[in-house]
This record gives sequence, structure tokens and C-alpha cells, in this order.
Amino acid sequence: MTDSIRFLMCPPDHYDVDYVINPWMEGNIHKSSFDRAREQWQSLYHLIKENAIVDLVTPAKGWPDMVFTANAGLVLDKTVVLSRFYHKERQGEEPYFKIWFESQGFTVHELPKDLPFEGAGDALFDREGRYLWAGYGFRSELDSHPLIAEWLDIEVLSLRLMDERFYHLDTCFCPLTGGYLMYYPPAFDSYSNRLIELRVPPEKRIIVEEPDAVNFACNTVNINQMVIMNKASDNLKARLQEAGFTVLETPLTEFLKAGGAAKCLTLRVTEPIIIDRHAVINIESRTVLMEGHLLDAGLINRALDLVVEGGGSFQVLNFNLGEQRQSTSKAEIKISAPSHEVMEEIISQLIDIGVVSLDEDQRDARLQPVEQDGVGPDDFYVSTIYPTEVRVDGQWLTVQNQRMDGAIAISETPNGLVAQCKILRDLKLGERVVVDVVGLRTIRKTESREPRNGPQEFSFMSAGVSSERRVELIVEQVAWELRQIRDRGGKVVVTAGPVVIHTGGAQHLSHLIRQGYVQALLGGNAIAVHDMEQSIMGTSLGVDMKQGVAVKGGHRHHLKVINSVRRCGSIAAAVEQGVVKSGIMYECVKNNIPFSLAGSIRDDGPLPDTQMDLIKAQEHYAELLRGADMILMLSSMLHSIGVGNMTPSGVKMVCVDINPAVVTKLSDRGSVESIGVVTDVGLFLSLLVNQLDKLTSKYGVVQVG
Ligand code: ARG
Repeated sequence: MTDSIRFLMCPPDHYDVDYVINPWMEGNIHKSSFDRAREQWQSLYHLIKENAIVDLVTPAKGWPDMVFTANAGLVLDKTVVLSRFYHKERQGEEPYFKIWFESQGFTVHELPKDLPFEGAGDALFDREGRYLWAGYGFRSELDSHPLIAEWLDIEVLSLRLMDERFYHLDTCFCPLTGGYLMYYPPAFDSYSNRLIELRVPPEKRIIVEEPDAVNFACNTVNINQMVIMNKASDNLKARLQEAGFTVLETPLTEFLKAGGAAKCLTLRVTEPIIIDRHAVINIESRTVLMEGHLLDAGLINRALDLVVEGGGSFQVLNFNLGEQRQSTSKAEIKISAPSHEVMEEIISQLIDIGVVSLDEDQRDARLQPVEQDGVGPDDFYVSTIYPTEVRVDGQWLTVQNQRMDGAIAISETPNGLVAQCKILRDLKLGERVVVDVVGLRTIRKTESREPRNGPQEFSFMSAGVSSERRVELIVEQVAWELRQIRDRGGKVVVTAGPVVIHTGGAQHLSHLIRQGYVQALLGGNAIAVHDMEQSIMGTSLGVDMKQGVAVKGGHRHHLKVINSVRRCGSIAAAVEQGVVKSGIMYECVKNNIPFSLAGSIRDDGPLPDTQMDLIKAQEHYAELLRGADMILMLSSMLHSIGVGNMTPSGVKMVCVDINPAVVTKLSDRGSVESIGVVTDVGLFLSLLVNQLDKLTSKYGVVQVG
């Protein structure tokens, strides 16, 4: 029985660490002992020979890693898929292995050039013969898996390797007799771990801890109930014995220096023939199209990175490079992913950068009905800030009310089909919602091939946080934009926190409102309270705004103010009755600038105007934000994030905060129109007012509000 099991090995005559192509080789060049390597190899050879037949391939000079015959190819029955090495350092081994396989009468399949696959090092049969586990991510390309499935006529399950120490599947994964699996889970991404758990029941999983994993415990030769490895901890040995295995240790430290051990040094050439097998390919492929300044704007890099980081692989089928500075390029890219789920994730990110799905051009979006008010179908497409179109009944509909984190609802109206971005709670029974990622595209302006010149444009051209030195330049830029927007009757929305008052910014913001630069104000209870506290009592949270010192008993001031305004019934009434005579809220009332104050759990009072029903507050915010050209976010993380979520791309956002983390968080939405300024907000506002006063409009001032 055992006699029929055969392995291929290669004597270590020319073995050495000559180069570095994996982390184990680093620092080990020419550090392995020839004699010890020979001894260790011999011991392994004899151990295996006692239990199986060992064939030898003649080592070739100049190819030191040829000892690792696991990488010769992948054998099933009389068929072999020859390895295509990823690194040129090993590509020279290919012809030697090919000759050996042919001499033994195997049918040899060769992968296309540039489609790497490193044989049994990256592909392991389930020892019950049910399927093939295939690794990708470092040495083998995902796109090789469908070919292997076809040639070997077997189901292939793709696993993505994430830890470069475990660059080959056989360094961290070892199927064993009886359906057992010994493996090191952190070497894989979460999708792969889920797949493993789906196929291998918990009682059959033998989890290896890191200390064993780095001793190459998973790099085990399994012959029936026997496992041969470099070294195992007592725990792991006990676990293997419990599962009915005899553990044989044989030191292979000299080979560890090259990143290999027992299993790497062998190739099983008699895999059990599985009678009732057939090819199953779980990999999905799609062809997408990209157009624009693909190189200059870095779009192609971004797209390809997204694919690889998302666990997929790509093949550029066509690339038409624009020849002139202004001409755009066009690329057709085939994308593969190990499952539909992973593909959806990748494609939805690609849609955001303007990629269109070629196949899907002809396809309608997939819709599923809302079955309960306020709840979407499981697989609903999550909207982004980018203008989106959806294909329904062969026609592209522009999605209305674009915002991020919503669902796209399709409803029939007397005027025909309407697509709308809706937050989940607003979904209504009878509407249909877009699921999956087919039949969707985003409309992106062709991104500029380079930042436009001139001070007017530069800062909005790249999402970025300014350094201290750039604050003044940005102020100039913002002032210019504010002036333009006001002069053409546009809309600027300010969202502000109480820090605006504490830092002395109230007078400047009041000035902006008075001058017609602000068309709506969003905030919480606090900004209004402290603004009116300053107006009525001269303090902000009890601090005298002129002297900058805390006033005795001042912490009670804001409660007195809240009380007075509550007596009046509203902020507007307090202004009309002369209780509030200046400040931001005063200017809003006097200039008919609508404001919305959203409440929170920590609010004192609240003021009569503060909306404590958050759903209503969100709706009011959204209403005031509609049609905004620019949003100034002044030192309020909470309200600004809320606002950011409701805002489509194309709206300029300026986020000012003293805390760089807040600024980064707010301006980091992948939108080129947002800029962050790390500075004191009071200072920013005073610079801004100064700058605006310096600018004289040649168009004449249009009265707004
Ligand atoms: N130095 C070799 C390489 O990096 C080691 C190969 C180990 N083989 C294996 N099946 N894991 O390619």
C-alpha cells in the first residue's frame, strides 16, 4: 500500500543561500553549512524512504533552490502543471523539472508567460481528494487557478496569503489524512479563513500557533498516519497524536535559512486518483473600462492597487495611451476575484473612481423589493458621495439626492422611473433597491492631468491638510471663493462648534453673516448658548472674553442665558425683544439666515430652538445643505462629520480645527474638493475677514438674504 506512494526529491549538491527572495533568506546569504545541509537532507530522505518510494532529479549547478522540489510543479495522476516561477532567480529550474516529468511520461501543461504559479508549494490537495486548495498573493497569480482547475479537472479553492513570512501555501497550511487540516490562520485574509472554516469542520482543524508556524511545523510531509516535520511544540505534538498521527521530527535548520523545510524538499508525484471529480471554478472575472488622464492623474495605479489590495488580480488587456498633453488614455482591464463577494467589494470601489464595467454596459442593475419600511435588502449597494447613474429597463437614471451611506431606491412615479439616494430609515415598502454592483456607474469629471496653476485653484485641487505656513494662502483662496459665491448668488453653509466663540471668532463670523457670505448655519445647542452668553454677559463658558480670565461664578452664566431665552420662547423672540443684541445668532435672525441646532445628550437647557429629535434634526440639516456650493466646517467634529455624510462630491468643504486628527478625518473622503486647515479657528476667521475686506469686487455686491 505504502509502496505505491512516490516522492520526488533533489539532492542538495548545489544548495546554498545565494540571493534573497523571501524574508527567511535575508541575512543568510552563504550562511548555511554545506555539510550540515547534506546531513539534514539525508535524514529526511531516509525517513521518507522507509515509508515510500523516492525518485531523484539531478541537481543543476547554479540553481541552488532546486532542492525544493515542491516547486517543480503540481501533479495529479499522470498530469502535471509545470511551475512558472515568479522570481527570475528560480526560473532556470523550469526546464530541468520539465525534462524529468516528460521522461516519466507525465502530460505537462505550461502556463502562459507572466502568469506565475509555483506548483505544489502553492497548491495542496485535500487528502480526501475532494478539492485543491490554491494559494495566491505572493508567488502565484490568482488567474492561474482557473487553468489549473481545468487541466486537472478539479475544484479549486483560492486562499489569499497575507504574511510574507508565509509566502507559499505549504508554509502555513497542511491538509492531512482523514480530512484534518493543520494551519496557521493569521497567514490568510478573512475571506480565506471563512472559506476554510466552511469546508473543514472545527474538530478537524488543527490550529498552529506562531512559534510552531515559524519553525515550519505546517511544512509537513504526510504519509498516511505519519507526519514528518522540522520541529513541533509539545502542545502541537499532543494535538496531532490525539488526531491519530505519529509525529517524526527531523531538524532542517539549514533549509529554514532559505525559507523551506520538509514539505518543500519533496513533491508527491502519486496523488490519489479521484474518480468522481470535475472542474469547479469559483473565480469570477470581469472586464472593465477606464478613461481619462489615467497616467498623469495616477488613476490607473489607484485602480490596480485597489484590485490587488482587495484580494483580486488583474490583466491589462488594452491600453491606449493619450499622445498629447491633453488627450486622455483608455484601458481595458480584466479583473479576477476568488468569489462573487470579493468581486463586488472590488468593483464598488472601482465604480467610485469612475471605472465602468464593460460587460455590464448591457446589463440592468439588480433590484430587490423593500419588504419592511425602513429596512433594505441584505445585499444593498451602499451609495457614495459621487454622482451615480443606475441602469433600469435599459435606461440610465441619474440618482437624485446623492449622498454617502445610503441605498438607491427606484420608484415609479407619474413622470416615470425615479432613482433616489435614501437613508435606510426612509425606505418604503413597494420601492425597489439596487443590490450588487451591476448596472451602476459614477460620473466623474475627467480629472485634471496636473494641478491647475495659480493661487486661485491650487488648494482645492488636492485633498490635503495644510501646514501652518500655508494657512494664509488657504485663507486667500477661501476668501476668493466666498466672494465669488456671494457675487453670483450661491450658497455657503457654515457648521460651527462653540470653540468659535471661545477663541474669539464670534465677531468675525457675525461679520461674515452681516456681509452676506453665509446662507445657512448648522450647529448644536452649545454654539448658540455661548454666543448669546457672550452677547448678554460678556463671557463664554464663564470666561471674560475681553480679559481672558474666568469670572467668579461664571460657570452659571450660560444657564442664566438659556433661562432668559426660554422665557422669550425662541432665539428670534429674544432678538426681537432686545434680550440678545449682538452676535452670531443675532445676525442670523436679523439677516434672515436659517439655522439648525441639533441637540445632544449633554445639552443644558436646551434652548427652545434646539431640535432634540435627532431624526428631525438630520432632516433639517439635509434641507439647509441642499444646493450648497461650499461648506465651512469650523471646529465641530460631530456636526461636521454629520454634514460630510449628507454631502455629495462637488461641494467644496473647508475644515478648520486645531486638532490635526479631526481635520484629517473630515477632509479624508477621497474627494478633491475638500481641504483641511490645522489652526486656531478664531485666528482663521479673523484672517478671513481681513482678507475679504481687502478684496473689492469688480462686479459690485449682490445683496443676499
Ligand atoms: N528559497 C526558496 C524560495 O523562496 C524556498 C522555497 C520553499 N518551498 C516551498 N514549497 N515553500 O522560493
